[in-house]
Order: sequence, then structure tokens, then C-alpha cells
Amino acid sequence: MQYTIESKIRMPSQIRPLAGKVALITGAAKRLGRVSALKLAEGGADVAVTYLHSAREARNTAREIERLGVRALAVRCDVTDEKSVRTAVQQVLKNFGGIDVLVNNAGNYETVEFESLTLRQWDAIFTSNVRGPFLVSKEALPYLRKRHGRIVHLGSLGGLRPWADHAHYCSSKAALHMLTKVMAKALAPEISVNCVAPGMIDLGEKSAAGLMRRMAVQTPMRRNGNANDVASAVLFFACAPQFITGQILYVDGGLGL
Ligand SMILES: NC(=O)c1ccc[n+]([C@@H]2O[C@H](COP(=O)([O-])OP(=O)(O)OC[C@H]3O[C@@H](n4cnc5c(N)ncnc54)[C@H](OP(=O)(O)O)[C@@H]3O)[C@@H](O)[C@H]2O)c1
Repeated sequence: MQYTIESKIRMPSQIRPLAGKVALITGAAKRLGRVSALKLAEGGADVAVTYLHSAREARNTAREIERLGVRALAVRCDVTDEKSVRTAVQQVLKNFGGIDVLVNNAGNYETVEFESLTLRQWDAIFTSNVRGPFLVSKEALPYLRKRHGRIVHLGSLGGLRPWADHAHYCSSKAALHMLTKVMAKALAPEISVNCVAPGMIDLGEKSAAGLMRRMAVQTPMRRNGNANDVASAVLFFACAPQFITGQILYVDGGLGL
């Protein structure tokens, strides 16, 4: 009997585990970030999405979020720029009053042969993929700390496996994986810090169809991942026990094994 009563009482929070929480997700106008933002909203969170160039798509994503019955905000933010990050975080605070979950999703990916890789390309990838998450996390830190919040980084299987034509990208994601672990230690016990590291994700792009077919055959799960696989992992860390921290979760169907 007791079990029945408890499970009835607990049902709403199980369905919407983030009800009453505020999530900030960077680079979430489209693609993986958009789907993760919608997943957090389905979980009950009010969601602020940031964009750099995709203003129209960000507004559309915000409208989709609102249709799920929670509040949404689209904010411009260049994650590499301290002033822009500060302004964006302040806008979120002004509208939503705090931050419980920060998802550092914004990033860049580029394919370049090692011998052609320029210093400018190297620095640009590190600036968005490593300095960005560091800057946004630092800015949101006091607010996350107040609410015993969570940080989720978006790493990559490329941060574990060396891909010959992606030296800068792989190195930047490896750095982000390490930053996850350092931050988990440095920010405990108030804040948990984890990382979702996607493998081969099929976003339906025609230009990648051949590669996707080849990769699915090589993947133990016999398929590539999709945006929902990644978003589910983001939601997991957004509401997992605070005791889970410093983890890199590969969402790769076993490809990295
Ligand atoms: N897609 C995959 O298969 C895959 C695999 C492994 C890891 N990941 C990681 O998962 C995350 C999301 O993947 P994705 O493919 O959806 O990413 P994406 O489309 O390459 O980039 C996401 C967003 O990042 C934003 N962005 C780039 N530079 C920025 C900056 N300086 N300041 C603020 N925003 C910036 C862009 O926003 P605007 O469009 O508004 O300019 C872009 O829409 C990334 O961190 C990526 O590295 C993806």
C-alpha cells in the first residue's frame, strides 16, 4: 500500500523531472542542441537557448519549447567572447531568476589534413570548443552553485579516438573531456559536471549518406546514433543523482570499443 501511495506521489516528478528548473543550453538553434533543448523542456525545465548566427532558427526553437508548456528564451551569445557570455547569462537570470542546468553544446567541427592545418584553424577550434565551455561555465558558476546545479559538456568520440584529418577537433574534445574531470573535482560538492560524447550521429544529411552506411556496419549496435540518443544522455545528466560526476558518457553504439 505504502508503495502505491509513494509511487503515485512521485509520478509527476518522474514524468517531468526538471519541473521548476531552468536550463541554459548554448548553440541550440538547430541540430543536436535544438533536440536536447526540446528534451530538457519535455523534462519540465524552462529553457534558454543561445545562438550565434542562427537567430531565426533559435526563435523557432524557442516557440517549439513554449508549445511544451514551459518558458523559453532565445539569447545571442558568442561563447568565445567574455562580454557576450556575461550579457547572455544576465539575460537568462533577468528572465528566469537562476540557472540549474548548463549544457555547453556550442562547438565547431572541421575536416583538415594534418599537413594543411593552419594555426588560425587550430586556434579557432580550441577557442570555441574549449575556451567557450570554460567561459560560459565560469560565468554561470555562482548561480549554479546557489542551486546545486549541473553542467553538461558535449564532447566527442573524437576526444578519445584519433581521427587523422581532425587533429585540432580531436585534441579540443580531449581537452574538454579533461576539463570535465577537473571541473567535477573543483566544483564539488555543489555542482556536478559530466560530458556526453557522441560518436557517429546521423542527422539525415545527404552528403554524409555513404559514410553513414559504412559506419553503421562497423558499429556494434549496427546503426548510427540520432539526435534523440544524444538528447536522452543530456537529459540523463541534467537530472541524474548529483553523486554522478566527472563522467564521460560515449553515445556511440559501441563504436569506440
Ligand atoms: N553532430 C555530431 O555528429 C557530433 C558528434 C560528436 C560531437 N558533437 C558535438 O555535439 C555538439 C552539437 O553538435 P552539432 O553537430 O549539432 O553542432 P554544430 O551544428 O556544429 O554547432 C552547434 C552550434 O554551435 C554554435 N556555435 C559555433 N561557434 C559558436 C560560438 N563561437 N559562439 C556561440 N555559438 C557557437 C552555432 O550556432 P549558430 O548556428 O547560431 O551560429 C551552431 O549552430 C557540438 O559540441 C559537437 O562538437 C556532435
